[in-house]
Amino acid sequence: MLANRKIVIIGAGHVGSHCAYALAIQGICDEIVLVDKDRTKAKSHSMDIADSVSFFNSSVIVRCGDYSDCKDADIIVISAGVPRLPGQTRLDVLDGSVECVRDIVSNLNKIEIKGIIITITNPADIIADFVRKATGLPKNRVFSTGTSLDTARMRRTVADLCNIAPQSVIGFAMGEHGDSSMVPFSNLTIFGKNYKHLKEENPERFGRLSEKVITDQTHMRGMDIIEGKGSTEFGIGTALADMAKAVLMDEHRILPASTLLEGEYGQTNVHAGVPCIIGRNGIEQIIELKLTDEELKQFENSCNVIKQHMVE
Ligand code: 2OP
Repeated sequence: MLANRKIVIIGAGHVGSHCAYALAIQGICDEIVLVDKDRTKAKSHSMDIADSVSFFNSSVIVRCGDYSDCKDADIIVISAGVPRLPGQTRLDVLDGSVECVRDIVSNLNKIEIKGIIITITNPADIIADFVRKATGLPKNRVFSTGTSLDTARMRRTVADLCNIAPQSVIGFAMGEHGDSSMVPFSNLTIFGKNYKHLKEENPERFGRLSEKVITDQTHMRGMDIIEGKGSTEFGIGTALADMAKAVLMDEHRILPASTLLEGEYGQTNVHAGVPCIIGRNGIEQIIELKLTDEELKQFENSCNVIKQHMVE
């Protein structure tokens, strides 16, 4: 009997339900359980997603459940929290989200968790740090999607500026999942070629690449979507599913995740988005890219923004 790959999602709102859908349609796991205070909402989303499963070659079970389902879960996703409103930063929802997550952790601490916790709830880096400390789980097993979504948005922006597939844009957004995230452009390549050389050699195609435009659009994309439709959901749902795949398939793949830094990039005692090797045991190792002095300053600034808002 093959092991049952089980993911529990705590918070069946826009984000949690789209995480469930992204996991289900890609067949990344065998069982998805939605947990929410509003059990009717969790049940309705699970039924709706289960209906979609009939259209593709998958036997994934999608259902609603409760905290007891976390006992044998491989991954527990925490997506419950206070959604930010137009004009708000992710930091603006800190107090409400901490109150919500504190309740979740008090429930999780009543059971013995064997799996990994991936947090999404904003402000992502601070909530991940709070959950790690409040559960007492080792740092490799509690982390956030962090700047994985910022990285996707950065790649999308670069792709749109030079008509290249985003998958061919190699680079990361790092630091806060928020308005202070930074892109180490000295490491940004298009399939291995430094983008500045491409700009010089082929200005017609690559001339629009601008560090300011790329950084600004990476920062603003989430709010632009919220102002347009009230919430982001597809991007973050897919980012979570991608990270869960790296864990469940033990891929040892390098992804940006918000994890505890203990000296890496010159930072300690802070969760921030950095490139990590992710596999069955969660965060296996942090990859330290070579950053310029200016990039290190930008990263430090972003970590300071996070540190100024951390909670116990
Ligand atoms: C976003 O940027 C939910 O913070 C997440 O879409």
